[in-house]
Amino acid sequence: MSLQNYTSINDIDNLKKWIEKAREIKANPFNSNHLGKQKTLGLLFFNSSLRTRLSTQKAALNLGMNPIVMNVTGDAWGLEFEDGKIMNGSTAEHIKEAAAVVSQYCDIIAVRAFPSLTDKEKDESEYVINAFKKYASVPIINMESATEHPLQALTDAITIAEFTTKKRPKVVLSWAPHVKALPHAVANSFTQVMQKMSAEFIIVNPEGYNLDPNITKDTPIYHNQNEAFKDADFIYTKNWCAYEDYGKIVEVSENWMITKDKIGNAKFMHCLPVRRNVVVEDAVLDSANSIVIEQANNRTFAAQLVLKKLLENA
Ligand code: CP
Repeated sequence: MSLQNYTSINDIDNLKKWIEKAREIKANPFNSNHLGKQKTLGLLFFNSSLRTRLSTQKAALNLGMNPIVMNVTGDAWGLEFEDGKIMNGSTAEHIKEAAAVVSQYCDIIAVRAFPSLTDKEKDESEYVINAFKKYASVPIINMESATEHPLQALTDAITIAEFTTKKRPKVVLSWAPHVKALPHAVANSFTQVMQKMSAEFIIVNPEGYNLDPNITKDTPIYHNQNEAFKDADFIYTKNWCAYEDYGKIVEVSENWMITKDKIGNAKFMHCLPVRRNVVVEDAVLDSANSIVIEQANNRTFAAQLVLKKLLENA
């Protein structure tokens, strides 16, 4: 199946093959450095980024593409997404023109747009990424939307495949504390990719923090970290806000911060950025158990695989 857009884990037709291909790219990153010659990748950011911004540009450069980047919020005209709107307020340009115009300059468009965390229905409609898919005439890549972060999750699957010594490792997604209400996108996409992977996958989070049941499906959900972490090979940590009481921080009495004592010999993963000694203690991040830097390195090869597939299809 040829790839039209990469906006969701559902766009991966065969995860095992995708991981193999990404690892081949990692071994020889410049093998296809003419594929993207005279092709332009546009990266549009409605929100901040370090890894996604740099690794996706690097992936494009490795393929011979020209990446161009825009911070949409602040630098572009205020965009309107509502059809039929009388635009006499703060928005100056409709997505219909904006997406069509960016398609004149770019052969592929990548978009980052986080959720409001105040309007569940609107966030779940994925109106930003879907408007780009509707009105652009070129492929769209999701660089983290309201509910999904598929480039990160593909990276995470590649990293687990690289580090595992077992055919079916035990992988635990653990909620951890944070000072702010954070989106569900990373946890959602990680859950979805692990459901496709050869792994014993479980989630552990405090009461009140269950993810969307349409995402977790029959994945076991624990509420006790020590019980969940028993015999774990990989502990993937992420904060997310409440889904049921949407966007809220629900009070948790125990300390869910990841510590060296809790994780034992398991490998520690996090998408980064991470707040030290809030989400995870220094002793974990600074230990050999932490594979977060290798994980971040794999962002380039996940993005490069996706770009390569879209270019091959052009
Ligand atoms: N993990 C991740 O998406 O990092 P950035 O937000 O820095 O891009």
